[in-house]
Amino acid sequence: MHYLQIKGEAKLSGEIKISGAKNAALPLIALIILSKNPVTIKNLPDVSDIKTLIQLLANLGAKCEYLDAHTAVIDPRGINSTKAVYDIVRKMRASILVLGPLLARFGKAEVSMPGGCAIGARPIDLHLKAVEKMGAQVKIEEGYVVCEGALRGANISFDKITVTGTENVVMAAALAHGETCIINAAKEPEVVAVCEALASAGVKIEGIGTDELKITGTAGELLNINEITVIPDRIEAGTYLCAGAITNSKISVTSVNPAHLGAVLAKFEDMGFKFEISGSGNDSKITILPADEIKATKIITTEYPGFPTDMQAQFMALTCVAQGTSTVEERLFENRFMHVSELNRMGADIKLNGNIATIKGGKLAGADVMATDLRASSALVLAALAASGTTRVHRIYHLDRGYESLEAKFSALGAQILRLEE
Ligand code: EPZ
Repeated sequence: MHYLQIKGEAKLSGEIKISGAKNAALPLIALIILSKNPVTIKNLPDVSDIKTLIQLLANLGAKCEYLDAHTAVIDPRGINSTKAVYDIVRKMRASILVLGPLLARFGKAEVSMPGGCAIGARPIDLHLKAVEKMGAQVKIEEGYVVCEGALRGANISFDKITVTGTENVVMAAALAHGETCIINAAKEPEVVAVCEALASAGVKIEGIGTDELKITGTAGELLNINEITVIPDRIEAGTYLCAGAITNSKISVTSVNPAHLGAVLAKFEDMGFKFEISGSGNDSKITILPADEIKATKIITTEYPGFPTDMQAQFMALTCVAQGTSTVEERLFENRFMHVSELNRMGADIKLNGNIATIKGGKLAGADVMATDLRASSALVLAALAASGTTRVHRIYHLDRGYESLEAKFSALGAQILRLEE
């Protein structure tokens, strides 16, 4: 197993290019199951979660060919199985994203129950209730969700906002007979990207980007899906901006879309940071400028466009070096504070009371720490950059799931970071 050795008190400078968004690429790859023809998908992040999902599609019989590290051609015409096997699904719960497309195209989908993960139980009850409402029979057999039936449009009202739940239903609705209305839909940029890819393939979708979607299905007609370019990863971008903030350095991220980072940039500004933004759309550049003083803040995670839960751990690391006392309230996941104990081992002063963390800003000191989930791992890397001394972050396979070439990107910004063998 590998670990990262990181020298503290880093001063960063320069700029790095942000990769395509893992959480957009995953549903967009699944969406290709609905296609009549092979589809080229570009700007894929070179991370293990993407490789896992492409392995899953190949396992179903699709032909998947990488043209380069960031471009693949996926041909769904060879799919001859509707069973997403445990051995692959257990590696990545987002495999549930093949449920809607398989069911829509083949009238059947068997997906191993994803199981929980470090940040929570991660149920899929809302996904299943929705496809059942669309006419599928749903049963659990030997740890697999087995869905079967011809899909028809339905009115779906989500009790909780679910990103992959919304994506699954939108993809299922695209081929259903009739119109599907979704109330309380997720409106993350990644959900918008899925809707836009379907719309450009001729699927009628109203309300894209809002919490109410209306999809008119093609009644089983497969789609002519155009070449897809994955949107920038707003969470990767936010993570690197946090690296600039926690070391109080001026750094830039390029190939990003500031419009996807509204709540995050506002929170940085609350803490005393300023920005220079240039370019436009997905090809913009954001430069973070050092703060005279890093101020404490109050964070509450909510669904988009609110402050993203996927940035909670990274900002908690930042509050550890702020002046004063901050609070972080995690409202989406029941156990997304796994980074707290590790940050406290680095000298942080964080107290937990249910889903609220209180952080007294101060100094951090290097230590051996353990990554537990993707975003918690990145928070430990950020803390290590600011801490005195050297930090070793263990179990970094978590990081490799969602951060492309992390040590190369940090080294390019001037960090002293090595990937070593345990
Ligand atoms: C997506 O997960 C992201 N993953 C997560 O990113 C992200 O943290 C999360 O959305 C919230 O923004 C991908 O897009 C692949 P949810 P998802 O369904 O869709 C509850 C990362 O770090 N819920 O929006 O699985 C659920 O328990 C990952 O990149 C149900 O109760 O999350 C949670 O409390 C981590 N029943 C809340 O809804 C369901 O059927 C939001 O979950 C589904 C969800």
